[in-house]
Amino acid sequence: MNTKPKLVVFSGAGMSAESGISTFRDSGGLWEQYRIEEVATPEAWSRNPDLVTDFYNQRRKAIIEAQPNSGHIAIAELEKHFDVQVITQNIDDLHERAGSTSVLHLHGNIRLAKSSGPDQEEAYFNIEGWELQENDLSPSGYRLRPHVVWFGEAVPAYDTAVDILSDCSVLLVVGTSLQVYPAAGLIHYAPLESQKFIIDPNTEELPVPKGFNKINSQVGEGISQFIEMIF
Ligand code: APR
Repeated sequence: MNTKPKLVVFSGAGMSAESGISTFRDSGGLWEQYRIEEVATPEAWSRNPDLVTDFYNQRRKAIIEAQPNSGHIAIAELEKHFDVQVITQNIDDLHERAGSTSVLHLHGNIRLAKSSGPDQEEAYFNIEGWELQENDLSPSGYRLRPHVVWFGEAVPAYDTAVDILSDCSVLLVVGTSLQVYPAAGLIHYAPLESQKFIIDPNTEELPVPKGFNKINSQVGEGISQFIEMIF
């Protein structure tokens, strides 16, 4: 039983921006360069699995080459003082590589693949290196697809995320535009009496509920301010 106060970090693409990973909705972000309907839906996979596989291969390559930034590292170090539970919308593994020991991926994990058929729904396969290939198949012969939750798909980790949030002492939201549901709705499950913070250079434009302390900065700088505020 962990007796330290429970701190939940809810992160989005801005968390990894200073590691050189593109966000989705900032100017120049991924969804300005690609159409969601062509690369990030089950229909896109049915129509053109090669294009979808290639899109995520490029993402995986960039993620493998990237390094955790000072924000990821500071969050891992907070485990000395808090029971830190990370809930991330990111498909990268930079929280884990920085040393965080409890990371829930709401939208999947780019380093893993799963069957695109009806078999082995809960089975995940490590992808060696950055490239998932056309002839990588599940044990029953279906093509493997990236373990990513696409638009229009259910978010299987959602209920676990609700449980994690529902008894936290501190909630830290970092680098998410809070546009994508159901993920964005999770922040409402933190207890009324919990301390709530959001770090984002754009907090004034975001749909931040009442009761949040806004830290209007990029992650690296914002985390230092957050640490000063909670200790
Ligand atoms: N530090 C902190 N925040 C930053 C930084 C930074 N260095 N750079 C950008 N941001 C902020 C932006 O201001 C924006 O609010 O990060 C946020 C990124 O928002 P999005 O690109 O919409 O990313 P996210 O909220 O994670 O998207 C949610 O949408 O496309 C899907 O599945 C994908 O998980 C993703 C989901």
